[in-house]
Amino acid sequence: MLLLGIETSCDDTATAVVRDGRDVLSSVATNQDEFHAKYGGIVPEIASRRHVALLSAAVEDALDRAGASFATIDGIAVTAGPGLIGSLVVGVASAKALAFALRKPLYAINHLHGHVFAPFLDRAETPPYPFLVLLVSGGHSQLVAVESATEMTVLGRTHDDAAGEAYDKTARLLGLPYPGGPQLDRLARDGNPTAYAFPRHRPADGSLDLSFSGLKTSVRYFLESDAGRDADPADVAASFQAAVVDVLMARVDAAFSRARYNAVAVSGGVAANSRLQAAVHDWSSRNNVPVFIPPPKYCTDNAAMIAAAAFYQGSATFADAMTLSADANLPF
Ligand code: KG4
Ligand code: ZN
Repeated sequence: MLLLGIETSCDDTATAVVRDGRDVLSSVATNQDEFHAKYGGIVPEIASRRHVALLSAAVEDALDRAGASFATIDGIAVTAGPGLIGSLVVGVASAKALAFALRKPLYAINHLHGHVFAPFLDRAETPPYPFLVLLVSGGHSQLVAVESATEMTVLGRTHDDAAGEAYDKTARLLGLPYPGGPQLDRLARDGNPTAYAFPRHRPADGSLDLSFSGLKTSVRYFLESDAGRDADPADVAASFQAAVVDVLMARVDAAFSRARYNAVAVSGGVAANSRLQAAVHDWSSRNNVPVFIPPPKYCTDNAAMIAAAAFYQGSATFADAMTLSADANLPF
């Protein structure tokens, strides 16, 4: 089954053609960072306008690169939410128009379910159910128990900032340009992760929830102090990153101590983080649990994961194309 994926939930205009939920024949993502960088964050209005300008060409590009055409695809998978409403409607309206014109099924996909299926892409083996996903992106941070393609439970989520947001805000405090996560990761490689003991959030008993705002505030107060003004930014970056990764790994560990999972997967933009990847691999070899981390191009927002989710979750009808609307707050 050949599916065209369309993802426009935030600031990446992404399209892809995926066979049977795993073989990525093409995946195109045009990042809009240059348009948002000077504002220090994503401007929703600009994001929607860029999607309008880029999406049609991105669809043709994905089909061309895959050697596919509108005639050979079996359906269209589109992100219906959650995300920026102005961005979502561009993808949803385009996908509806295509499905209507082509008389092909339309799959409405939850963006976060897409991240759950990113670890399935371009892999000979897929994660065996039940598995645990640490979903850490710029907009979301949560732990998900995946019992099957359609049965997933959120075990814990952030009370405030998402992990990627914490990276981006802390990077900004360190004077790094937006989006700061990858830059902070690079800076931290030259720093000492034990130079400063920034706070690690502890959830209430029994909770697997996360919180990063206290950590970010603590870095800010430190940087404004006398010691902070003289500190090596690489040490601050490394120490901040150590705190984030400690918290994430503590939740993974706690989740595994409560239930049996056959694998651990990490997804979302922060899954590209070098320290987090090293920690997960280390944890998985110590605990003898297989680990699935997608390559960076599938960690960040992409349309291949949306097409994959559609394949595994199934059940689209042509009639869906007529009634689908975008939902900025689509629940998990
Ligand atoms: O999944 P994603 O593309 O967007 C959302 O759906 O939110 O994630 C983007 C986030 C940004 O906050 C970015 O700074 C962060 O992922 N990120 C990283 C790294 N690469 C991307 N954070 C830490 N280390 C990285 N290497
Ligand atoms: Zn995302």
